[in-house]
Amino acid sequence: MPGKEISLAVIQRLPRYYRYLGELLENDVVRISSKELSERMNVTASQIRQDLNNFGGFGQQGYGYNVEYLYTEIGKILGLDKRYSLIIIGAGNLGQALANYTDFERRGFYLKGIFDVNPRLEGISIRGVEIQMMDNLEEFVKKNKVHIAALTIPKMKAPQTAKEITDMGIKAIWNFAPVDLNLPSDVIVENVHLAESLMRISYTLKDLEASRESDGN
Ligand code: NAI
Repeated sequence: MPGKEISLAVIQRLPRYYRYLGELLENDVVRISSKELSERMNVTASQIRQDLNNFGGFGQQGYGYNVEYLYTEIGKILGLDKRYSLIIIGAGNLGQALANYTDFERRGFYLKGIFDVNPRLEGISIRGVEIQMMDNLEEFVKKNKVHIAALTIPKMKAPQTAKEITDMGIKAIWNFAPVDLNLPSDVIVENVHLAESLMRISYTLKDLEASRESDGN
């Protein structure tokens, strides 16, 4: 809904709704009640109603939610009805793994370039996109609109490279390097740290084991 402020907490939950609704659509489910959705997603029905009411409450009493409508609306809010160009900086293990992943295109993110400093990688093609040297990046950014750069380079190199690429005009960084980038506030930085997820698992496991031990006593 244009103009309506949606809280950040809700926005952060939207990708999960989007994924579930996408699966329902793939299975030709036309409508779903908040109760059914809550069972699938393991979220309370009232949380679902509260979250989805943000979009004009298009759940109807006795009917539930129209899956396709909700999927499309959430997609629009997330900006997924648009196409974004993505480049990858750092064509090592992680960069190549990302480049090989095809599902981003389905979400509207198109891989347009891969860059590295290692001349041994130059010209190697991943899903039809050739790895280029970093020296070409500035020229590339002038000729091609680049919305997002994934940063998969060593941590020591990341802050400087991030600064250089934002000076070139790239305004969104998907940062995988385990370091804070400290960029101007108009640059979007999304940090992805798998190790932090693992730490959250470790924390929960630790709690679980402690409670098992105390149960055993
Ligand atoms: P890698 O060593 O396999 O690849 C790094 C690549 O970056 C190499 O090809 C290297 O030539 C290139 N490179 C180095 N300096 C560069 C520069 N200034 N400009 C462009 N390319 C440059 O390393 P890997 O395993 O792919 O990891 C890459 C980064 O991702 C590291 O910072 C690592 O800590 C991080 N990482 C993060 C994870 C996460 O969950 N966020 C998971 C795994 C790795």
